[in-house]
Amino acid sequence: LESTGAPQDLAGRSVVVSAGGTREPLDPVRFLGNRSSGKQGYAVARVAAARGAVVRLVSANADLPAPDGVQVTPVETALELQQAMTEAAAGADVVVMAAAVADFRPAVYQDAKIKKSHEPGAEQAPVVELVRNPDILAGLVRDRGEGDRPVIVGFAAETGDATGDVLSLARAKLARKGCDLLVANEVGRSLAFGQDENTVHLLRPDREEARTVGPADKEVVAAALWDEVVNLLATPPT
Ligand code: CTP
Ligand code: CA
Repeated sequence: LESTGAPQDLAGRSVVVSAGGTREPLDPVRFLGNRSSGKQGYAVARVAAARGAVVRLVSANADLPAPDGVQVTPVETALELQQAMTEAAAGADVVVMAAAVADFRPAVYQDAKIKKSHEPGAEQAPVVELVRNPDILAGLVRDRGEGDRPVIVGFAAETGDATGDVLSLARAKLARKGCDLLVANEVGRSLAFGQDENTVHLLRPDREEARTVGPADKEVVAAALWDEVVNLLATPPT
């Protein structure tokens, strides 16, 4: 699949990309979810394929067409995403976690649709108990052990808060996750989710300064990500 103009600097590389957002079911008709469209992860997969990689895209509930030449594995929940990523990561050169993973899921799944009471005066609302989902990215880093493959890339959507600005929160997250590259998105309520342009910071544990890209569209962000990965593949961390 020769693509016009794109450098073939990922030729022969096997890459796995997650995209979209997980949904955690409450009952057969309801779920807890998030606003991730999947556009950024799909752009990451599309650009990798254009640069010659063999691409597997694990797609959580993204309503987008499969990019040319990309094999798509659909998943719904965080636990399904974890299983698909763990299987696909074995033997891959690069893994990119672009999906928004629900941090929590309902503790119990109700097999039948949850109904409200129709008794007069009975207006209590149910309380939904949540449990933590596994950290898929941190697990992939843990499974890699002392080796340096696959190269592992995380994303972080940060707004900045009282404890720190976007860059310092991202630096702390990079250290916590232990991945090789963190792509930190600056987000607000109307920024990034579903938007066509955003500003990102590319952070590496072996580099003090972040590289800032944008405001740029998701293809440009994806290209910058793969530039960093090509560099990481050429010079494995010691
Ligand atoms: N991630 C993951 N598994 C989770 C949560 C997040 O693999 N259970 C991945 C995301 O795909 C992303 C990165 O971790 O690549 C950062 O996600 P983010 O939600 O920003 O990080 P969290 O560790 O969940 O921290 P926060 O409390 O800020 O949400
Ligand atoms: Ca989270």
